[in-house]
Amino acid sequence: MIENAVIVPQEASRDSETVTLKYRGQTYELPILVGTEGERAIDISRLRERTGLITMDPGYGNTGSCMSAITYMNGEEGVLRYRGIPVEDLAEQATFKETAFLLIYGRLPTRKELTRFSVMLNDHSLVHEDMKVFYQNFPRGSHPMGILSAMVNAMRSFYPELNDSSEEVQMTVTRLLSKIRTMAAMSYKISRGHTVVYPRPDLAYCANFLNMMFDSPVKPYRIDPEIVNAVRVFWILHADHEQNCSTSSVRLVGSARVNLYSAISSGIAALWGPLHGGANQAVVEMLEEIRQSGQGYKHFIQRAKDKNDPFRLMGFGHRVYKTLDPRATIMQKVCHRLLSALNITDPLLDIAQHVERAALEDDYFRERHLYPNVDFYSGIVLRAIGIPKNMFTVMFAIGRLPGWIAQWLESISDPNWKLNRPRQIYVGQTRQEYIPIDERE
Ligand code: SDX
Repeated sequence: MIENAVIVPQEASRDSETVTLKYRGQTYELPILVGTEGERAIDISRLRERTGLITMDPGYGNTGSCMSAITYMNGEEGVLRYRGIPVEDLAEQATFKETAFLLIYGRLPTRKELTRFSVMLNDHSLVHEDMKVFYQNFPRGSHPMGILSAMVNAMRSFYPELNDSSEEVQMTVTRLLSKIRTMAAMSYKISRGHTVVYPRPDLAYCANFLNMMFDSPVKPYRIDPEIVNAVRVFWILHADHEQNCSTSSVRLVGSARVNLYSAISSGIAALWGPLHGGANQAVVEMLEEIRQSGQGYKHFIQRAKDKNDPFRLMGFGHRVYKTLDPRATIMQKVCHRLLSALNITDPLLDIAQHVERAALEDDYFRERHLYPNVDFYSGIVLRAIGIPKNMFTVMFAIGRLPGWIAQWLESISDPNWKLNRPRQIYVGQTRQEYIPIDERE
């Protein structure tokens, strides 16, 4: 049992100032909430009750859904911290297990806690043998993200004993963190008709995954520390990112008090999208298209700027970061270090660097604050490791799992949390009569 876990966030404080709303001869004072980093929000939780009005914010770019103590991002300054610790420091010094523990339980583990956490992860690394039959019945060529989302949801059937006791929740959390690697590697092996490789108790989290992915009876896999380091940093950089699309899906689905597995399965489904976690696969496909087209990267930069062309520069732009995504800077360094250590020359890296340089010098991208995001270089790192392209987003999902779990735990523990149910403004037909079929033209 992890004692003294820091799960429930403090309430935001109230600003001395308020916002004044004048509407139909009435004046309303709306409170302002202030976070620990000085972020401010108008509290509209009673707006409709007091004024009859709702707010409209398609894409929720101006709307806070919760108070959270897990991750702090400053999109203007390119800051990203997990429980207050800069992601740069964690990428430099922490293991992925420590980072997962930090996000989920609110503090870095003691050596004793980390050892116990490692033992629990090892104890739960195997997948129920009956789950293998599920994999074998997916059509050949099924996308691993669709398989992973289905298999995580199926875990509820294989491990039905989930209840709200803190010990059971911790067991479930550890079970999911450990088994997601095994399930991901299994989907890869089975999709190739290869023998499934089981987790080894003597290997740490990242090395175990690599071994399950690439070891084989005919060619034993050699664990390369540089590759393990690249996977460690990749997963730390992806571990959480406050209220992004997939995390908001986990919170929204979780707000119906559905079990953790189903909430996480909804996050995996959302992450699959090419505008979100699927971008790492889309970046490599874009770079391959640039290479194979023979038209040169400048042609594609022009296409990305053309409003009549649906082509977008994948791996560029971000809803929050209006400067360089701090993760992109670290990922670029990991990319150069890994390719040099493995003595790999990847032509896509050259194209990526030309695209980045051209875009950063182009007013269209600068005026719109479009910079490389975490996905721009991560696909090239995964290629160098040997991860197949259709598993790139699965790698993102494994990294993001601790963040999804931490956000789910925080939401269900929050005394103010309630069923998520947004409103709308109806713009359809006003009242119509039903016309019997014989009277219709
Ligand atoms: C992730 O939210 C998170 O935290 C996500 C994530 C995480 O860790 O969870 O960080 C992971 O999803 C990173 C983003 C990965 N997606 C991509 O790389 C796909 C390419 N990027 C774009 O599709 C886009 O930038 C988004 C979706 C990421 C953000 O888009 P927004 O905030 O909705 O911005 P927008 O679409 O309103 O664009 C603003 C302007 C528009 O031009 P104008 O209408 O003002 O003339 O910028 C243009 C857009 O056309 N634009 C781009 C562009 N992204 C935005 N133009 C060309 N190429 C692009 N990539």
